[in-house]
Amino acid sequence: MNEKELLTAALGAAKRAYAPYSHFCVGAALLTKSGAVYTGCNIENASYPATLCAERTAMSAAVAAGERDFEAIAIVGGREEDIAEGRANEECPPCGICRQFMAEFCGPGFKIIIGTPTRFSVKTLSELLPHSFGRDSM
Ligand code: THU
Repeated sequence: MNEKELLTAALGAAKRAYAPYSHFCVGAALLTKSGAVYTGCNIENASYPATLCAERTAMSAAVAAGERDFEAIAIVGGREEDIAEGRANEECPPCGICRQFMAEFCGPGFKIIIGTPTRFSVKTLSELLPHSFGRDSM
């Protein structure tokens, strides 16, 4: 699956976001090294900090299904009314907690695809989370 297809899957997932508080919908599509794709959306909660981001939802679904080897993640976000019509923000970079969550399972070369199906950029996890804390830091 190429970047455009992964971003399209992320946009589809964003339409399933549960975001009654922020009205900001995020979708993520995670590609495993075996070629499978797991999607996730943000799931908000009345207790705001209990909210799950799209990226962690996708990663949790994949890990729960037995996957641990990941190649790339595509992230798409935008206001509810835009996402409903298939339009996304130019960029929806992953939050710090999600970057840290990715670092638990993904190496420095893990690809993070940010943008829309027609305009995107690809970064590596080490670019977005340099000098990170991990198991070797303890
Ligand atoms: N959100 C994500 O799903 N992923 C991120 O990396 C950034 C933020 C969600 C959380 C919340 O539901 C909404 O976007 C606004 O912060």
